[in-house]
Amino acid sequence: MRIVKLHTTDSTNDYLKSLAKEEKLEEDTVVWALEQTNGRGQMGTKWSTSSGKNLTFSVFRKIQQITIDQQFYALMAASLAVKDVLKKLLIKNVSVKWPNDILSDKKKICGILIENVIKKGELNAMIIGVGLNVNQTIWEDVPKATSIKSQTGIHFDLQEILNLLLEQFHHYVKMLLDGNLDTIKKEYEAHLFRKDKPSTFLNTNKEQFVGIIQGVTDQGRLILLEEDNKLKEYDLKEIQL
Ligand code: BTN
Repeated sequence: MRIVKLHTTDSTNDYLKSLAKEEKLEEDTVVWALEQTNGRGQMGTKWSTSSGKNLTFSVFRKIQQITIDQQFYALMAASLAVKDVLKKLLIKNVSVKWPNDILSDKKKICGILIENVIKKGELNAMIIGVGLNVNQTIWEDVPKATSIKSQTGIHFDLQEILNLLLEQFHHYVKMLLDGNLDTIKKEYEAHLFRKDKPSTFLNTNKEQFVGIIQGVTDQGRLILLEEDNKLKEYDLKEIQL
């Protein structure tokens, strides 16, 4: 595995995307930046973190290793790797908020953004971007954020945490490639935030409704049991928790 460490870049996902387009990438290249000037989150949101305090990195995987049908499994693998490392560091109440947020004590500690590299109209590779709050303790405009330091009082070395994360991510990717898909999905579902509890969601018309999270489909749609006792599936564009 090759780790490229940068001081500043616009977005580690974008950095890998442009290298991928120029065919300059080996499988398993990791790009880690201390600062991003245009960090991006899901659904076009911005991802900004305090310079040098948190981990922002992306991993490049060729599609031959993880197929498009397994894209959500790559997200689950990354989420579980983060969850395991946080638990190892004795972070309390770690859960996975569908689809891509990791929470501690109901506050966001990590976000994951998976993007596809399309070449000549075809899917070629996948970029898995991770933003993990490590040593930042003050947020000006994000009330529900936390970090490893906020939860433990301990300042951590970023390289050390990155190594732990990559090791654990490879453990899950191996499971994926060995075909242990069920184990990955069960483990992800077991850690879903508000699973089996009635929760209020917003639909695309901004109307509230109540549903109970049951799990996810292979493509990553959220399965809810609704008040009419029927099971329904949603994707990220359709609901908000
Ligand atoms: C989210 O919570 O919506 C996902 C946030 C993902 C942020 C990471 S930081 C490293 C990588 N580069 C980016 O521009 N975004 C991801």
